[in-house]
Parts: sequence; structure tokens; C-alpha cells
Amino acid sequence: MSEQTRASFGGKLSAILVSAGSAIGLGSIWRFPYMAGENGGAAFLLVYLLCVFVVGIPVMLGEFAVGRATKLNAVGGFRSLSRPWRWLGYNGVLGALLISGYYYIVAGWSLEYMVSSFSGLYSSGIPFSEQFTAFQASPRQAIYTIVFILLTHLIIIRGVEKGIEKASKVMMPALFIILIIMAVRVAFMPGAVEGYRFFLNPNFKEAFSANTIFTAIGQAFFSLSVGMGCMVTYASYFKKNNNLTNTSLSVALLTLLVAVLAGLVIFPAVFSAGLEPTEGASLIFNTLPEIFKDMPLASLWSATFFLLLTLASLTSTISFHEVLTAYFAEEHKLSRKRATYITSALSIALCMLSLFWVFDIDFAGLKLENTSCFDLFDYVTANILMPLGGLLTCIFVVWWMKPDFLRNEITNYGELKGRAYPLLRFTLRYITPLLIIYIFIKNIGLM
Ligand code: PFF
Repeated sequence: MSEQTRASFGGKLSAILVSAGSAIGLGSIWRFPYMAGENGGAAFLLVYLLCVFVVGIPVMLGEFAVGRATKLNAVGGFRSLSRPWRWLGYNGVLGALLISGYYYIVAGWSLEYMVSSFSGLYSSGIPFSEQFTAFQASPRQAIYTIVFILLTHLIIIRGVEKGIEKASKVMMPALFIILIIMAVRVAFMPGAVEGYRFFLNPNFKEAFSANTIFTAIGQAFFSLSVGMGCMVTYASYFKKNNNLTNTSLSVALLTLLVAVLAGLVIFPAVFSAGLEPTEGASLIFNTLPEIFKDMPLASLWSATFFLLLTLASLTSTISFHEVLTAYFAEEHKLSRKRATYITSALSIALCMLSLFWVFDIDFAGLKLENTSCFDLFDYVTANILMPLGGLLTCIFVVWWMKPDFLRNEITNYGELKGRAYPLLRFTLRYITPLLIIYIFIKNIGLM
């Protein structure tokens, strides 16, 4: 497609905003606290920080380079540079599909909590965890999931620039502000200190294993939206003069800030309310209402928070919907409208599978009872497909392509100094891939 007909994001700020819009979402506010809660709190936070710098940012830059150089979707981008590498693009498309199969469900929970803040969540007197369980057993869960998919569908069908940019610009500052207000509020809850200790004071002896690194790498990929072609697709809409290094650093730092703020809100509240940090996927939905319930105007605060979480989720769902839509439209020569419909229909089908199909796994030493596609999709994308995509992206940009490729993209063909380039190249060549390979091997139990 020519420059004129293909959409592009406005200015420098827009590129940062929309990419951060993709990155910041349920990954930082829902998934990060529950992963940290299950993996030792502060130890997990430290390893996660390290993974963001050593793995997340370098891979994001690799994806940005491929996307902006080719101005194509994930599959087309890799293929146009080297045909066999289109499979790396397909890995991303598969990842986007599987994420679509459960992310909308959690986003639907947020929507439900926004509505029920005014209709019973605080006035019924029923314990919050019981309310969450009841909601999961009711048909409302499926309805909210579908509503969320339709919302995403509507934004995508309006086109890239209009929909995505507008949504990101309004929501992000508001989300920061409300998280800061909540972090201040929880500091005054009795017993909050225990939560800070858990989240900020690492105890590597008790809570550290290869699995911690494995989970933290997965979390870094997931929360930064890298390793599955999403940033390839987004960078394909960047302007030629965008400073990719600055964009990726800004996106990563904003995402980190939200994740750390989320931890500073959740853990003091968990300990203050006598809940368990290891509760899993329901953690924030059972904990956050504990913060709001004693505040004046509880329903209003609660609804505002869940509205912002819903919007943050929306800018993320838009991004993986866009990976699939751009793929169907450009690779299968469909109209954008038709590609959007296909993506939304597939998302609904997969989410219904996640909601209604429960099974047991007893395969190659892995024994899981009562598992759903929800858990399976989450595990496979964050812990397998995205790290694999990240590993192959490193190999592609610094081993397969000529050195000029990455240098030209990082320096905008000599216009920028690109002082970070040598460090980036070294990291992408050795550190990032070796770390991912080591962790894969370790986790399969070969070492
Ligand atoms: N980074 C998003 C979040 O943290 O909520 C999730 C995500 C979006 C993952 C887009 C992957 C992706 F391609």
C-alpha cells in the first residue's frame, strides 16, 4: 500500500500514546498483581523490572524496526524482508487470536464492576468474593464479554487514526491520577505496612525459583505487548521521523509505572483486608472494592476506577484486534470492514469456548484438573508464544538481517546519533536470546 492510502498516527506523542495504550491494560493492573502475588511479591517485582529492560525494550525496538521499515502487518512485514520468516508473523497472529480468546472476558469483568458499583456491589452486604463467584456463574459474564468485543469492533471499524488515537489521549492521564489517589488512600488502611513489605522487600530465599524468572519474562512480554507482532503492526503506522528508541523507552517506563502503582494499591489493601495475595485471577476484583467501601462516595470512586480500567483494556483489545484485522485485510485481500467482522466473530467464538468448556489435562508430566481454555490460552500466549516470538525477533533483526537494517531504523538513516545502538545490538545479539533460551530449557527440566 502506498504512503498516501495507508493510515498513519499523527505526531511523536501519538506514537507513544497509542503504543502505551496497547501496552497498558489488564496486563499491568490485573495480571501483574496476581502474578506477583503468586510468585513472592518483591522478588517478582525485581525480576520483572530486569526483564523489561533486558528483554522487553530490546524486542520492542526490533519489532518497531520491522514494522516501520516495511509498513505492513505482522506476517507481511517479516515476509517482505525474508520469505521464510513469515512464520514469525504467523506466530504473532496465533498469539493475538489466543489472547482474544480470554482477554475480553476479564475486560468484561471490569465493565460489570463499573455498572454494579451503582447496583448492589456495595449496598447488598454480600461479601465481595461471593459476589464475584456469583457473577462468574451467571449469564451476565458472557453478555459483558460480547459487549466488550462489540465495543472494540466499533472502534476498529471507524479506522486506525480516529478511533485509537482519540481513545488513548483521554484515558491515560486520568488512569494515572486515579491510581495515585488510590495509592495514597490505601496507605491509611490498618495493616497496610504488611503489604508494602510483601511488595517491596524481597526475600529471595523463600520465594525464588527458575519459575519466577519464567513467569516474569512472560509478564514482561505480555504487559509490553511484544513478541506477537503487535508492535510491528503499530509501528507500520508510525511516521518516518519517529525516534524509535525514545518511543520504546517511554512506552516501557509508562507501563512499569502503572504496574508498580497497581502493586502499591493492591498489596496494602490485600493485607489490610485479611485476603491472600495468592488468590489468582480474582485478586483485584475481590481486593479493590475493599478500598472503596469505606470511602465517601464509594460507588462513584469505584465506578470511575472501573471505567478507566475498562478504557485501558479497550486500548489494548483494539491493538490485538488490529493485528488480526490488518492481517486478514492485507494478506487475504479482504476489505477492512470484512476483516473486522471476521476478527470479531472469531473472538466471540473463542471467548465462549473459554467460558463454557472445562477439561482435564494429563500430558507429558503436566497434570491439570478442571482447566479451561481461559487458563490455557493465557499460559500458552504469555509463557510460550510471546517469548518464542521475542527470541526469533532477536535472531531475525541482528543475526539474519544485515547490520545496516537495525542501525538505519534506530538512527533514522543517520539523522539521529543513535548512541544506544551498540548496546542495543549487543543485548539483542547475546543477552536477550540467551536468557530466553536458558529459561525455556530450565523450565522444560533439561537443566
Ligand atoms: N499489553 C496488554 C496488557 O498489558 O493488557 C495486553 C496485550 C495487548 C498483549 C496486545 C499483547 C498484545 F499484542
